[in-house]
Amino acid sequence: MTAWSNRTAAEGKAIALVPTMGFFHEGHLSLMRSAARQAGAVVVSLFVNPIQFGPAEDLDRYPRDFERDSALAAREQVDALFAPEAAAMYPEGFQTRIAVTELSQGLCGAGRPGHFEGVATVVAKLFHIVRPQVAIFGEKDFQQLAIIRRLVRDLDLDVEIVGQPIVREADGLAMSSRNAYLSAAERQSARCLSRALRWGRELAAGGETDAGRLRAALESMLAADPTVTVEYVAVVHETTLRPQQQIDRHSRLALAVKIGRTRLIDNGLLFAPEQG
Ligand code: PAF
Repeated sequence: MTAWSNRTAAEGKAIALVPTMGFFHEGHLSLMRSAARQAGAVVVSLFVNPIQFGPAEDLDRYPRDFERDSALAAREQVDALFAPEAAAMYPEGFQTRIAVTELSQGLCGAGRPGHFEGVATVVAKLFHIVRPQVAIFGEKDFQQLAIIRRLVRDLDLDVEIVGQPIVREADGLAMSSRNAYLSAAERQSARCLSRALRWGRELAAGGETDAGRLRAALESMLAADPTVTVEYVAVVHETTLRPQQQIDRHSRLALAVKIGRTRLIDNGLLFAPEQG
């Protein structure tokens, strides 16, 4: 991979990297299209990174379909699909971890200890192997995006990080490879996330400024469906990710629920930019 990147750089082309865990959906394809707009060469990495999964998580059943993914990538302007084996990324004796300490603590980090260390470590490895000038990430994992931005600043990595808006199904559900786990009934219940986001925005637009009250209202709305277990409803500052008491223009509403066995997340600014 690095030899390919060096040759590409010698041809004067900038590289944009789209790091993924595969099982592509329209959200991934939109990241690939954005990458093609930003650089002369596009690399998509496809690696289900074992070190970002906890022992009780879904590493073994995470959806995988390499043939379908390569066919989908071939239809986009993707120059290289980098799909390493776990043993090549983590040979025997591997023991290094990168911790972005503070930003990894709350939200998904609270319920998934070690997850963001696994993400930061693999992303740093991918940057070193692929040597991109630009890397594109989706905003659905906005904590991940904030952590990667911090990682790049803190370690002086020479990569521009670009975030891309969440791509949604027609009924509002944020696209995710994990949506494939949902039964038909669970798929219906999963609409609660985007409904909660919409209702949160309506409450904020209607003058609610108390984050605690807004969270309580949304928690009880989500918990009304017995198949939904709320992990968190949080109002945080969009860049520091610190919990806020008062809602303002920087407030991001972040949600994590379990629907049956499937963990889903969603988020959005409480005051969408188009609302002023
Ligand atoms: O967002 C993902 O799919 C993964 O966390 C990433 C960034 C590819 C690292 O494994």
